[in-house]
Amino acid sequence: MDGLRLDGRVAVVTGGAGGIGSAIAADLTALGARVVVADVDLRGAEKVAAGLTGARAVAVDLASAADVERFCEAAGPVDVLVHNAGVSVVEAFVESDPADWDLMWQVNLRGPMLLTKLLLPGMMAREWGRLVFVSSDGARAGSGGEGAYAATKAGLFGLAKTLAREAARHQVTSNVVCPGPTDTPMLRRISEAEPGLVGKLARGIPLRRLGTPADVAGLVAYLCTDRAAYITGQTLSVSGGVTMH
Ligand SMILES: NC(=O)c1ccc[n+]([C@@H]2O[C@H](COP(=O)([O-])OP(=O)(O)OC[C@H]3O[C@@H](n4cnc5c(N)ncnc54)[C@H](O)[C@@H]3O)[C@@H](O)[C@H]2O)c1
Repeated sequence: MDGLRLDGRVAVVTGGAGGIGSAIAADLTALGARVVVADVDLRGAEKVAAGLTGARAVAVDLASAADVERFCEAAGPVDVLVHNAGVSVVEAFVESDPADWDLMWQVNLRGPMLLTKLLLPGMMAREWGRLVFVSSDGARAGSGGEGAYAATKAGLFGLAKTLAREAARHQVTSNVVCPGPTDTPMLRRISEAEPGLVGKLARGIPLRRLGTPADVAGLVAYLCTDRAAYITGQTLSVSGGVTMH
């Protein structure tokens, strides 16, 4: 099948040191892209990049505007931008701390907005680009204890669709991928606070298991290829059938 290679393309994966991000970095590398593994955890990013041909690790704290600017200068021209980094503080909304809202807003929504503002003009000028936003099924369907998180992740829907309209004439696509419960360090951290959560989640999933990072990475990588050139402004779930629309 033609059109599935990304040779010569430079791809930034934020949160590339994490569970889903490292799987996305591996799949994009397998398709021929040179991946910038971007993460606040530089040591973790370096470990991931060391295992991937042509990849490099660059530190970035998405919560800091100055850091995002410095990162974009260091990254050079970027063809593929995968917004995967995310943080979740789980707490009942009425008990939640606005300081936690601020962190989630900065990392999950403001960071992607800033990165896109700085890197999208280059894609538009070169008449090719891919934006993929990793949101969450929690934003599509609601998720107990994740009110502020879901709000920031739902913000990505409006951003991605607007960018899809504004950048389409330059052959830049913009799509959202929504994982359901996926077996990563993030989910393990959340389930430590609620024993039995993983089993409960899996029983509620039509395909009867948690997602894996590779389940999510396959769709993200596909959306970055030429084969997906006519797909833009879409929100797609990778959640074992939890969300069907
Ligand atoms: N695991 C799940 O069940 C699940 C479900 C739905 C959505 N998601 C989303 O998928 C994405 C990946 O999550 P994961 O499960 O792989 O989590 P993870 O915790 O394994 O990875 C997240 C990565 O983001 C990085 N990060 C955190 N704050 C950052 C910052 N300020 N600047 C730069 N990088 C930062 C972390 O260092 C980490 O490497 C997230 O956006 C998450 O919200 C995950």
